Amino acid sequence: MKCRPFGKLDWQASALGFGCMRLPTLDGESGAIDEDQAAPMLRRAIEDGVNYIDTAWSYHREQSEVFVGKVLAQGYREKVRLATKMPSWLVNTRDDMDRFLDTQLERLQTDHIDFYLLHSLNARHWENYLKLNIFEWAERKMAQGKFRYLGFSFHDSYEVFESILNGYDNWTFCQIQYNYMDINYQAGQRGLLAAADKGLAVVVMEPLRGGRLAKNPPPPAVAEVFARSGRDWTPANWALQWVWNQPEVSLLLSGMSTMEQVEQNLVSAGQSSPNSLTPEDLAVIEQARLAREALAPIPCTHCEYCLPCPSGVAIPSVFEIYNEALMYDELRRGQNAYKFDIKDENKADCCVECGTCETLCPQQIEIITWLKKAHAYLTPTGS
Ligand SMILES: NC(=O)c1ccc[n+]([C@@H]2O[C@H](COP(=O)([O-])OP(=O)(O)OC[C@H]3O[C@@H](n4cnc5c(N)ncnc54)[C@H](OP(=O)(O)O)[C@@H]3O)[C@@H](O)[C@H]2O)c1
Repeated sequence: MKCRPFGKLDWQASALGFGCMRLPTLDGESGAIDEDQAAPMLRRAIEDGVNYIDTAWSYHREQSEVFVGKVLAQGYREKVRLATKMPSWLVNTRDDMDRFLDTQLERLQTDHIDFYLLHSLNARHWENYLKLNIFEWAERKMAQGKFRYLGFSFHDSYEVFESILNGYDNWTFCQIQYNYMDINYQAGQRGLLAAADKGLAVVVMEPLRGGRLAKNPPPPAVAEVFARSGRDWTPANWALQWVWNQPEVSLLLSGMSTMEQVEQNLVSAGQSSPNSLTPEDLAVIEQARLAREALAPIPCTHCEYCLPCPSGVAIPSVFEIYNEALMYDELRRGQNAYKFDIKDENKADCCVECGTCETLCPQQIEIITWLKKAHAYLTPTGS
C-alpha cells in the first residue's frame, strides 16, 4: 500500500481509506449491514495496508460504528487509525457531546478514537459549537485520552471553510468533498490548498462523487474522451488517480460497497502517487469534466442574482437538481431530491411568470421556460 504524509503528524496514512457509509446491506435496508459480505471487505482492505477507517454516528442508521467495532475487535484495532464524528446537527448541550462520545467509544469497542471530527460543519453548526465552547471540551477529552486528534468534515461555501480553518489553531485535519467535478464546489481546490498550507492533513471524501463518476460505461461523450486517451483505465480509476495526483491530499476515502470495488481500489491505490499524471492525462480529465458539464443544459452559475423570487421559487436549487440529473443520467435521484429537498412552496410550479428573475440573470437564462421543463422532468408522472 502506498502511504502519504498526514499533515504534521509523524505518521503516514494509506493512500486509500475505508469509508464505512456505503457498506453492503440486506434488502436495501440501510440499517441492516450485510456483515457476511462487509466484514471480509474491511478485513481484506486492512490486510492489504489500509490503515484509516472512517465511520460516523449516523451512518447506516447508527449501525456502522457498531459493525466497525465488531470487526476491529477481532485483532484489527491496533493495525488502523480510527476516525468517527460527532453528529453536529444533534448537539444542543455539553451533555450531548459527552453522551455521543462515550456511546461511540462503547459502540466501537475501543478506549480511544484516533481522529475525531465535528461532522458536516457548516455556518450554523460552527456557530453552535462556538457557543458551546467546543475547543475547551475537546481539549479536555483529548487530555483524558478519549480521542487523540480533532478535525472537521465540511459542507458549505469556501468562505465558511476559511473561517473555520482560521477559527482554531489546533486542527489536525479536515475532510472535504473533492473530485474532478467539484474543483470549485464547497471547500474545493482552494480549500485543499489553504488547509494543507496551514499544515492540516486533508482527507478527501466523495472522490467518485458518491459513485456517479464510476459508472461504467459513462455517458457516451465522456466514454469517447476516455477511449481516446490510450489508457485502459476504468472511469473510477481516472477519478481516483486525479485526486491522488495532488500532493496536498493526505488520503482519499472510498465508500466501497462490494468486494470487487475493494479489490479494484486497492490496485488503484497501488498505482497512485503525487504528481504522477502526465499533462496528457490531466487534459483527458479536463475534457471529461467539460463533457460532463456540457450535459447540463442550464448555464446557471448559482450566483443567486435572480433571488429572492417574488413567488418563492428556489430557482438556482431547482436548476442544480435538474442539471445534475441530466449530467449523471439519474432521473430517480433527481426526482427524489426535488421532492424532498425543495419545499412545495419553493418548487418551480409556483412560478407566476412575472419575469423579474429574467431581468436580473447575468447569464440571460430563459428562466421561466426552464422552470417549466425542470418541473415536468423532476415530477414523476401521476404524482
Ligand atoms: N463527513 C461527511 O460529511 C461525509 C460525507 C460523505 C462521505 N463521507 C465519508 O467519505 C467516504 C467516502 O465518500 P463516498 O462513499 O461518497 O465515496 P465515493 O468513492 O465517491 O463513492 C462511493 C461509491 O462509489 C462506487 N465505487 C467505489 N469504488 C468503485 C469502483 N472501483 N468501481 C465502481 N464503483 C465504485 C460505489 O457506488 P455503488 O454502491 O453505487 O456501486 C460506492 O458506494 C464515505 O464512505 C464516508 O465514510 C463523509
